Amino acid sequence: MHRASLRSALPFLLLILAGAAAAQNTIPQRVDSLLRLMTLEEKIGQLNQYTDNGVATGPVTPDNEKERQVMQGKVGSILNVLGMERTRAWQAIAMRSRLRIPLLFGQDVVHGYKTTFPIPLAESCSWDLEAIERAARVAAVEASAGGVHWTFAPMVDIGRDPRWGRVMEGAGEDTYLGSLIAAARVRGFQGRGLGSTDAVMACVKHYAAYGAAVGGRDYNSVDMSERMLWETYLPPFKAAIDAGAGTVMTSFNDLNGVPATGNAYLLRDILKGRWNFGGFVVSDWGSVGEMINHGSVKDAADAARSALLAGTDMDMESRCYTGTLARLVADGAVPAAAVDDAVRRVLTKKFELGLFDDPFRFCDPAREERALNDPAHADAARDMARKSIVLLKNDRGILPLAKGLKTVAFIGPLVKEVKQNKGFWDVELPGVDSNFIVTQWEGVSAAVSRSTTLLYAKGCDIDGTDRSGFAEAVRIAKKADVVILSIGERRDMSGEAKSRSDLSLPGVQEELAMELLKTGTPVVVLINAGRPLVFNGLAEKASAILYTWWLGSEAGNAVADVLFGDYNPSAKLTMTFPRSVGQIPVYYDHYNTGRPATGDGDRFYRSAYTDLSIHPRYEFGYGLGYSPFTYGGLQLSARTMTAGGSIRATLTVTNAGRYAGEEVVQLYLRDLVGSVVRPVKELRGFRKVRLAPGETKSVTFTIDRESLSFYDRTARRVVEPGEFELMIGASSRDIRLKERFELVP
Ligand code: NOJ
Repeated sequence: MHRASLRSALPFLLLILAGAAAAQNTIPQRVDSLLRLMTLEEKIGQLNQYTDNGVATGPVTPDNEKERQVMQGKVGSILNVLGMERTRAWQAIAMRSRLRIPLLFGQDVVHGYKTTFPIPLAESCSWDLEAIERAARVAAVEASAGGVHWTFAPMVDIGRDPRWGRVMEGAGEDTYLGSLIAAARVRGFQGRGLGSTDAVMACVKHYAAYGAAVGGRDYNSVDMSERMLWETYLPPFKAAIDAGAGTVMTSFNDLNGVPATGNAYLLRDILKGRWNFGGFVVSDWGSVGEMINHGSVKDAADAARSALLAGTDMDMESRCYTGTLARLVADGAVPAAAVDDAVRRVLTKKFELGLFDDPFRFCDPAREERALNDPAHADAARDMARKSIVLLKNDRGILPLAKGLKTVAFIGPLVKEVKQNKGFWDVELPGVDSNFIVTQWEGVSAAVSRSTTLLYAKGCDIDGTDRSGFAEAVRIAKKADVVILSIGERRDMSGEAKSRSDLSLPGVQEELAMELLKTGTPVVVLINAGRPLVFNGLAEKASAILYTWWLGSEAGNAVADVLFGDYNPSAKLTMTFPRSVGQIPVYYDHYNTGRPATGDGDRFYRSAYTDLSIHPRYEFGYGLGYSPFTYGGLQLSARTMTAGGSIRATLTVTNAGRYAGEEVVQLYLRDLVGSVVRPVKELRGFRKVRLAPGETKSVTFTIDRESLSFYDRTARRVVEPGEFELMIGASSRDIRLKERFELVP
């Protein structure tokens, strides 16, 4: 049809559309009616996503290329549109297109929108599913009020290699905990469901196995057994989808030689087939076109054909679909039905979000104003932040510090930092003060008594070799009752494309710490980072270590809450901390091997290093509090169970200390003999129990078929009769109670 005649047909078409909508009110029917009105070009447009150049600069006008394409119905979605005003402006342009199909606005709301929450890896250390869900909820309320419909989160990649900078975005190394957290985040983002104006559609990413990039180098290849894929890497995706995640993002890597974006096995067979996923799949940024670099396709057309047929519905920024699909359909290389299926999936989500009823329903200035200034959001961020801080060491109970100390020296390059606390994926909103953060200095200043003298020295930079600040730092350390030393990574040292081969503290920070330790003043270290770092010297010599990750807007208050005992730390590591890079990958649920080492004195022809402990520095599930907890009285309801039945394990936990607090009680199982070897232990349950000083509580776990099942050689989920060991621990290594039971046929 000619352009002019198209324009004159518009009112007529809209009439049909409105009529269709009124007469047929189910979403599939509305989608079909619309699909019948669309040209092939318009359909392909729905599968095309552009960025708003990453920054919100200048007004949106129909003069430039992207805007023109939106008016022509050639764009289905835009990412990185920041602020409600700008989403409104873009949507207004989409409303000038022939069929007035609304745009979908996507954004990486990974750990908060205006209110920045701790990085996801930090949050996972809380083992607090409710708090994690609440954090995602707050992010969704703010983002949706800012016009965002869709967040590229949760990231559920299993992280077992801290060289990979993206471990900061996930929930650590464990598939069981990671699956529960994935579902909690989806629930938080999507709230009461797509269509409510305070929900954002979730996008579970990066599908799949991205976390296992060889050598921890970002975007690198993944070569993995089917069994490992099913058992460890896929479950969090399945959990997110079962929780209702509307979309999935493909990953950059190739998996066993086939790029994930063109991987029909992952997308068609597993995701849309076996799991019956009804939402849509978006590529990662440029990953359709990058299949040319992978060497699996020869050009953009070949890439588009491969990706679409494999099941990637929307092309993020590689422009392969928009440039080539029409010809591929005309040539019969891509069936029109495959395009229709992808478009149907995208339009369905737009209908579910209510955008056809009101394309501007997420553009309400009053709601934006309210949501971005709700004081409850800061409270949630503070709660989440203090629950994310892991106490790694506390010699002679130096922590918590008394608020009435005479002199405290607060030293280090991160004490007064604003931006670094925000972590890699913070959202820079136009018109919002990016200094909207409580620094550690502010938090601690507000917590200490009026009679306390708080001294400050920077000591050194995060990076670099400048030691000129050491002398001043040492001088104030000598005058103080205690040194609090805040060191770590810059926020851009962990994140996408931030792989590191050396995981020690950057620059001369550890050297500064050693100088301060020589003064004899006790040194409490705060380590701010996006990944597990290696810091053996400090681990041995510092008086206390708090791993604070990057804590977000309320960093300073949360740190002060923990330092001075207003909050008793309860977090436990969700990633193993290695002793050296040479120990990586290192994770708790490894196999036993034929020659296991029983300890560090047992290395002779054993599966061990000759020059390094077999134990990591800190194990999965490890974390201290200010009160010791004792465990006792483990009882099983039976010694045998059938696959259709269950067993209950009951025990007691007692707070044997002086501080009220929470303990994460962990249940591990080991299947002693299997047709394929089973890990030495696997997390299969946990409870976060709150106990007053002296209080005892009973904790019960139920073990059922699901707890005992695993993927066999052919990736089928099975249970096999035999003996199991049940372990109750305060960490994956600190096992306090054990029992055995048998699964009988
Ligand atoms: C690339 C990242 O891998 C992905 O996680 C993110 O959502 C997109 N860029 C969009 O920013």
